[in-house]
Amino acid sequence: MNSDYDLPFPQYRCPTCGKDLPLGEARMTVTCADHTEKAPVDFEVRRAQPSDRSAIETICDRALGETVVDVFGETFDIIDGINMIAVADGELIGLMSLVVRQGEATIVFVSVYPEHQGTGVGSALLDAADRFAAERGLSFLRVATTNDDVPLIYFYQRHGFAIYDVAVGEVADRFGSATPGFSSIPVRDEIRLRRAVCAD
Ligand SMILES: CC(C)(COP(=O)(O)OP(=O)(O)OC[C@H]1O[C@@H](n2cnc3c(N)ncnc32)[C@H](O)[C@@H]1OP(=O)(O)O)[C@@H](O)C(=O)NCCC(=O)NCCS
Repeated sequence: MNSDYDLPFPQYRCPTCGKDLPLGEARMTVTCADHTEKAPVDFEVRRAQPSDRSAIETICDRALGETVVDVFGETFDIIDGINMIAVADGELIGLMSLVVRQGEATIVFVSVYPEHQGTGVGSALLDAADRFAAERGLSFLRVATTNDDVPLIYFYQRHGFAIYDVAVGEVADRFGSATPGFSSIPVRDEIRLRRAVCAD
């Protein structure tokens, strides 16, 4: 899948012309609810197995360039996380990685390949995270995103998450500068969101 792209890897796909877009080239648009629907796709969501490791490394590589993520003041290796994957036709199409911290299910990474976005994969991964938390008696699901990542901030708020903390300047401090992110917006802050676990 996508093995012949030049760096940086695309994170989004233009719904108008189909062009694959690295983060800096992506732009937002506003549309009416009737025009957001895409053709449904057959996929399943399941807990990752050891045999999924290489596919997990690939999706992390394309989103981050590595499997390590710094968030909530800690460094996590996604490989060691609780990984929920979406699979279509035997191929991994999306990943949500979780850990349990301070009694809360914590999402440390999410990514859906551009060609499968907007078809409910991210929402299904979130449902799986919710079920994971409910089965373990955890009351909250939390996540952090960066200030530039408007699609993720939208996605989580649409799913009932509320901002409870902003670590102002945290990301810029870590890298020593504000690097360009989604739509070339400077990445400075870590925005933390939380929602009560809703699964029965
Ligand atoms: C944000 C993301 C996880 C959402 O996953 P998804 O499978 O597209 O989500 P869904 O299909 O379940 O859509 C849920 C909502 O998110 C919106 N959405 C977010 N990103 C979208 C995209 N790229 N295309 C279409 N819809 C998107 C949808 O409009 C939908 O909103 P609605 O409920 O108002 O209709 C996914 O777009 C993604 O992986 N983006 C790249 C993340 C990233 O920035 N990675 C790099 C750094 S880690």
